[in-house]
Amino acid sequence: MTPWQIALIVAAAVAAAAALTALAVLGNNKIGVTRYKFFAAGIERGIKIVQLSDLHGKSFSKDNASLVLKVAAEKPDIILITGDIIHKYDARNVECALSTVSALSAVAPVLYVSGNHEMRNKGYRFFRKQLAEAGAEVLDDRCAEVAGITFVGLNGASNRNGKIKKIMPEGGYRVVLAHMPQFLKDYAEAGADLVFSGHAHGGQWRIPFTRIGLYAPGQGLFPKYVCGVYSEGKTKMVVSCGLGNSRFPLRLFNRPEIVAAEILKAE
Ligand SMILES: [Fe+2]
Repeated sequence: MTPWQIALIVAAAVAAAAALTALAVLGNNKIGVTRYKFFAAGIERGIKIVQLSDLHGKSFSKDNASLVLKVAAEKPDIILITGDIIHKYDARNVECALSTVSALSAVAPVLYVSGNHEMRNKGYRFFRKQLAEAGAEVLDDRCAEVAGITFVGLNGASNRNGKIKKIMPEGGYRVVLAHMPQFLKDYAEAGADLVFSGHAHGGQWRIPFTRIGLYAPGQGLFPKYVCGVYSEGKTKMVVSCGLGNSRFPLRLFNRPEIVAAEILKAE
């Protein structure tokens, strides 16, 4: 091999590494907005929802100001946070979560449910209080009503113990906030019309332009529920790709996501 050929191979390898690095940096920090529309009979008026999920303590800018601006630009009537806002209970994670919630609650009312990371230790009881003081309505195993729509919140452990059937109200248009998507059948059996969930982090590494992801906790390799809308009978479920990362520190072809969903009044 001539020196020129070696130089060419080295230059190609450096260019490929730089391109991959740029892709990884952009792919983990450039937030995308995914929009959906749903139609519901019997509600008072249409509303716009912004859903955020799986922040895992990530800060896109100081106090997540850039994230909050993007949310505000959607002009939501209500903001849903579907769990794993922290990765662990340390000062940085908690401060980031509380300042983000506080800024979001100045944009629109915030309904929050926990994920598995909040439920990991007893810190959750105190954290729940702090979230409420920061402006969130903590909806773990409780319901709230907005514009004739009932929002039903499950805490990050309730999906496994059949709690949803106990707290699901009779009739009306029922929107469930539940961190884990793999229990869609349970949500459908309980009568949910629409579910917002996360947890799968979009499958972490995805084949470009597909919903084929590598891995999701609770679902394993090549998970079924990755991101987008899934159906089970009359129930539809939005799975957010989430915003941050867990133990797996890198997203590939899987941008951090804000979900903007309109529920419109069916004629
Ligand atoms: Fe998560």
